[in-house]
Amino acid sequence: MEQIHFTEKQNAPIAVFDSGVGGISVLGALVKEMPYEDFWYMGDSANAPYGTKSLEEVRRLTAIQVERFIICGVKAVVVACNTATSAAVRFLREQYPDEIIVGIEPALKPAAYVCENPNVVVMATPVTLREEKFHKLMDRYRDRANITPLPCPGLMEYIEQGKAGTEELLIFVDKLFSHVDKENLDAVVLGCTHYPFAKNEICKVLGPNVQLFDGAPGTARETRRRIKEAGLLRDETHIGRITYENSLNSDEKINICKRLLEKSLGKE
Ligand code: DGL
Repeated sequence: MEQIHFTEKQNAPIAVFDSGVGGISVLGALVKEMPYEDFWYMGDSANAPYGTKSLEEVRRLTAIQVERFIICGVKAVVVACNTATSAAVRFLREQYPDEIIVGIEPALKPAAYVCENPNVVVMATPVTLREEKFHKLMDRYRDRANITPLPCPGLMEYIEQGKAGTEELLIFVDKLFSHVDKENLDAVVLGCTHYPFAKNEICKVLGPNVQLFDGAPGTARETRRRIKEAGLLRDETHIGRITYENSLNSDEKINICKRLLEKSLGKE
């Protein structure tokens, strides 16, 4: 993809970016929302995890990718990573005011309305939970819900390594929640795009009464809205294609991405 320049914006792909394979959960929602669009998925697994790096480093790594997409002339950029969004999206929008740049944030709003005064846990990376963007989000719902941030360093690695569905992951998730009052928990926000792929394990640990929320469908709807507003939606008869790229240049990572997409689309 390096040298390509898409000459016609309407037919150009939508770039979807994450620190690794997690953004596939957002790609799945995007494909459901706009099956007629082409997508270019880029995972920066060579530099993953982002969530335990410094804010400056995450901002720098994200800016490199977004600049590349924009030079290539993509239709829109979806930063399908909560960590990269909180570190960089505001700056990128200032830098490229004419481009469509959509980010993702933890889906705290629907979780805060799940019942009267719910107990809500927000699972995310240390960077996401430390950032001002998250603190502002939490301030908005503090009166409605009892919110506990739960940093989950180490969790994304299981998904990166294709270990969704393993006993090892189940044990890790169980440990993560060992200090949480599971009996009185109402909702969990999956505030990192890798975590929806650990949904089965999270549900097993928390039981059937806890609702899980993930920001991917909202991000996909917002992306469609922005593209429509710009008059750039493709003809709905077009059959969308997906191009996968990973900074590790490994077939194994691309295969994990393809498998996770099938999972996201409910085909597995
Ligand atoms: N997938 C990323 C997110 O949504 C973070 C994973 C990482 O630490 O790189 O926050």
